[in-house]
Amino acid sequence: MIQRILKIRGLRHFSLAIVSAFAWLPYSGVARAQDDLQILSRIAFGSCAKQTDPCPIWETIADYQPELTLLLGDNVYADILDGRLKPATPQRIADAYATLAKDPGFARLRSCSPIMAVWDDHDYGNNDSGVEWEHKRPAAELFHDFFGTPADSPLRKQAGVYQARIFGPPGKRTQIILLDTRFFRSPLEKGTAPLPGFRALPYVPNTKPDATILGEAQWKWLEEQLRLPAEIRIIGSSIQVVSSEHPFEKWDNFPLERSRLFELIQRTAASGVVILSGDRHLGEISLEPLAVGYPLYDITASGLNQATQGWREVEPNQFRVAALPYGNHFGTVEIDWSSAVPLIKLQLRHEDGEIAVQTRVPLDVLTARPPSLPRPAGVLSVAEVLLVDEGAAVQVQFAVRGARAVSGDRWLLNSEIDFRNSRNFTAVLNRGGRSSLPPNASPDSLIGKTIRVNGNISLYNGSKQIQIDTESQWEIVSESGVGDGER
Ligand SMILES: [Fe+2]
Repeated sequence: MIQRILKIRGLRHFSLAIVSAFAWLPYSGVARAQDDLQILSRIAFGSCAKQTDPCPIWETIADYQPELTLLLGDNVYADILDGRLKPATPQRIADAYATLAKDPGFARLRSCSPIMAVWDDHDYGNNDSGVEWEHKRPAAELFHDFFGTPADSPLRKQAGVYQARIFGPPGKRTQIILLDTRFFRSPLEKGTAPLPGFRALPYVPNTKPDATILGEAQWKWLEEQLRLPAEIRIIGSSIQVVSSEHPFEKWDNFPLERSRLFELIQRTAASGVVILSGDRHLGEISLEPLAVGYPLYDITASGLNQATQGWREVEPNQFRVAALPYGNHFGTVEIDWSSAVPLIKLQLRHEDGEIAVQTRVPLDVLTARPPSLPRPAGVLSVAEVLLVDEGAAVQVQFAVRGARAVSGDRWLLNSEIDFRNSRNFTAVLNRGGRSSLPPNASPDSLIGKTIRVNGNISLYNGSKQIQIDTESQWEIVSESGVGDGER
């Protein structure tokens, strides 16, 4: 917007110098290896702000004085008309942004903090929509107009509104990667019966091999980004990455894409990744301990003014480590670069700015180890083996996340912490398969190790497993659980 004004005044050739002089200007989001020498130590983020409802939290965020604010989608609700969901027109999207621009709290935040944004479905213009949305191109133009993307930015020509920037000098770099989970996303698949405790029909895994969330161009770009040097990498995704059990929108509706993301982080040895997400009208911190070889946090801040107001039962989420299941809120990431090992504080804050939940993560905990043992050709991941028919002979490799002894002198080695998870695969280690283990070995001693198993797929209570009866059917290929290349 500022650049347009400058252009009108014939001052365009001064615009670059002026843009770098005023830190409050909206960032263009053009990805370069080293965008800005500013060290980030206070980042605010959030999602789900209905422009027609009061939103006092904009003032609270402005009071927090973030060095950068990340808006993770549903930044306006353009697809609601007369209180009902109705696909937006470009005019209604423009009107929704115009209403948000007039909000004094938002205007104040915009004047004191740079903002980087990505969209979700309601600002994209159509509830739960993806690649098929007819107005996605005008919606992208309106998005860029509102967030001040310069007219000559490559982002204006790119399909999809994904973007990235790196802040800070070597040793103190924070990379911001915002993913577009809408523009390329394949259609969702609906189940036929509600899950217990939910009214709506659930989305069920779309496992078609060509089904995608990011699309190939964005995947290629993401790999390039993850290979750039940075100490901390904040990946913003409008929908949750780690939480996998609720029936709504989430990465696990495309389990092969979720696996691909985890594998990509491992393969690029990208350290310091933290996921920020939105969409769910609740706040929570999820932690996937093994998927990328180090603890992967996903902090969901959803409800700048749309969170459920009364107490809300927490949803099933085996990865949840902290919950803020009601009340409007925003998230903050604080980075203390002064300690010997930089400390990251992941926080959710109430509408008045008070910290509701917090977890502290020393940066060295998020250290990538290159995948030591990638899967050889023909060895399947869990996501792949779950698609194989009963009776088929396969080889599968996975990290053991849960293990226990059951009657019949069998050890169940599970790919999920909770064996009831629909994404779980089990290797049943019978006595005949345990002869080479030390006498004091227990099921627990195998947790965290990566195993490769061969045998025929069988079914137990609808879950897929392989029975291991001889030593030749399995081996431990990594003691660390890193490099399992699966999920
Ligand atoms: Fe959403």
